[in-house]
Amino acid sequence: MWFYEKKLQYPVRVSKCDVRMAKFLIEQYGGSDGELAAALRYLNQRYTVPDKVIGVLNDIGTEELAHLEMIATMVYKLTKDATPEELEKHGLGEHYANHDKALFYNNAAGVPFSVTYIAAKGDPIADLYEDIAAEEKARATYQWLINMTDDPDLKDSLSFLREREIVHSQRFREAVEILKEERDHKKIF
Ligand SMILES: [Fe+2]
Repeated sequence: MWFYEKKLQYPVRVSKCDVRMAKFLIEQYGGSDGELAAALRYLNQRYTVPDKVIGVLNDIGTEELAHLEMIATMVYKLTKDATPEELEKHGLGEHYANHDKALFYNNAAGVPFSVTYIAAKGDPIADLYEDIAAEEKARATYQWLINMTDDPDLKDSLSFLREREIVHSQRFREAVEILKEERDHKKIF
C-alpha cells in the first residue's frame, strides 16, 4: 500500500521556458534508464528476492516514482508557455501533433517506452547487479543532462536526482553483500 504525499521529494524550479531541454529530459521519463523503468524494475523484482533485501527494492522503487514525478514537473514547466512553433523548432513537433503538451512515456528520440528495458531474472544476485548497472546508467544520464543546460535551477534539481542514483547504487551494492554473506554462511553448515 502507498500513501501519497502531495509535494515533490525535492523542489523543481526552472529559470525559463526551454523546449530544447524538455526534449532531452524526456529520456529520464520514458527512456531505457529512466525513472519509469527503474520504478517498474525494482517494484517487480521485490517478489522473488530474499526477505532481507525486499525493503531495499520497495524503498528505492517507491522513490523512483517520486523522481518520475519530478521529471514530469520539469518537462511541464519547461514547455507550458511554449508555442506550437517553438515546440516544432526544438524537435517536439511530432509530440505536439499527437499529444499536445501531455506527457508520454517516450525517450528523448520519441521512441515509446518498452518493458524490454527492464529485466527480472529471478536470481537475486543477477537482478541486483542489473539494478546497480541501472543506477549507474541513470547517474550518467543525469550528468549528461546537467552538462547540457546553463539553467541554475534546473541544474540544482538534476543534481539532487544524480546524487540519489549514487545512494541507490550504494544500497544495492550493500544488498549484494548481504546476500553473498548469507550464501557463504549457509555453505559452512
Ligand atoms: Fe535510482
